[in-house]
Amino acid sequence: MSSRLDQVEESATLRLADLTNELKRQGKDILSFNLGEPDFNTPSNIVEAAEKALKSGKTHYAPAAGIPELRDAIAAKLKNENKLDVPGKNVLVTPGAKQAVFYVTFSLLEEGDEAIVFDPGWVSYDACIKMSGGKTVWVKSNEDGSLPRDLSKYVNKKTKLIILNSPNNPSGAVLDTKDIRMVADLSKDHGLYVLSDEIYEKIVYDVKPVSIGSMIPDKTVTINGFSKAYAMAGWRIGYAAAPKPVFQNMLKVQQHTATSPTTFVQYGALEAINGPQDSVENMCRQFKERRDVVVKGLRDMGLQCETPLGAFYAWPKVKGSSEKWAEKFLEAGVGLTPGSAFGPHSDDHIRMSYASSMNDIKKGLERMKKCVTGA
Ligand SMILES: Cc1ncc(COP(=O)(O)O)c(C=O)c1O
Repeated sequence: MSSRLDQVEESATLRLADLTNELKRQGKDILSFNLGEPDFNTPSNIVEAAEKALKSGKTHYAPAAGIPELRDAIAAKLKNENKLDVPGKNVLVTPGAKQAVFYVTFSLLEEGDEAIVFDPGWVSYDACIKMSGGKTVWVKSNEDGSLPRDLSKYVNKKTKLIILNSPNNPSGAVLDTKDIRMVADLSKDHGLYVLSDEIYEKIVYDVKPVSIGSMIPDKTVTINGFSKAYAMAGWRIGYAAAPKPVFQNMLKVQQHTATSPTTFVQYGALEAINGPQDSVENMCRQFKERRDVVVKGLRDMGLQCETPLGAFYAWPKVKGSSEKWAEKFLEAGVGLTPGSAFGPHSDDHIRMSYASSMNDIKKGLERMKKCVTGA
């Protein structure tokens, strides 16, 4: 067995979701708040576009970097919405944003190189860094999700990459311009690349996230996808916009692994970008209502919880081991993800996804309250 994988753990979020589903299959009454994807169906205009492509023979290999129409549409979207000046030829369409994250770490890191990841951070960054031979340097975010001021102390000769994720999974925090500028300055001072994972950019509540690629275009790889904004998680489609040398490396990895993203799926993605956006707005409105109920419910049971400004997760603080809490909640019929999955400094939090019906959320909060207060 390759030693590269010795340090990589099985995805804790997927493991917990599997365990919860297994308990459900056994007939246990479990309300699951582990979900990392919208509980809505893909909008019908997108399904129809992919269906049409499938029926009209778009079933052959696609160009390795993606179909040109989609790459150009993504470049136009990035220009209009994110102020990024990236040509379509630097856009790589990938089988999901996760795959793009791996391509970046695999393209940039040499054995022993370091990558800065903010804690809490999404579970797969650390795994992708390790699988690429690198080392994760965890930097604890502040409780409100903002970044610590003294970032340069984490940089040394081996540091190559910083990973940003705003809105953040698991905390729902959105970085303000000041923090983004600080990371841009750090990148300039030390020649570091930034991977900006913007997959939750459209699921935000009264804020507009800033794309760091508008400040340091030559050093940023912007990653995004369709899973969250368009409820297309199972379609496996995402993208990266990268400076030319990074793009070329990423393309090589895609050519020799995935070949290309699924051809007819790309026509669905094209419709997602070019078609009506009302379903995104509608989904966001519902998420916001749920967020308010969740945050109030958590605070009412005495848990400290920041108001998430984006994504669909709440990130309350718990006293003691988060895994013990997750087990306790599971016994009470509520599936949550322990904070320990999201970094070494996050064992005092737990993640609650509110990609579930309002009914389930209210019932789940009742069960949690009994568990926390013993009432
Ligand atoms: C922060 C973050 N980035 C990337 C992804 C992966 O997205 P995709 O489904 O496009 O691979 C997820 C999915 O949970 C995520 O939470």
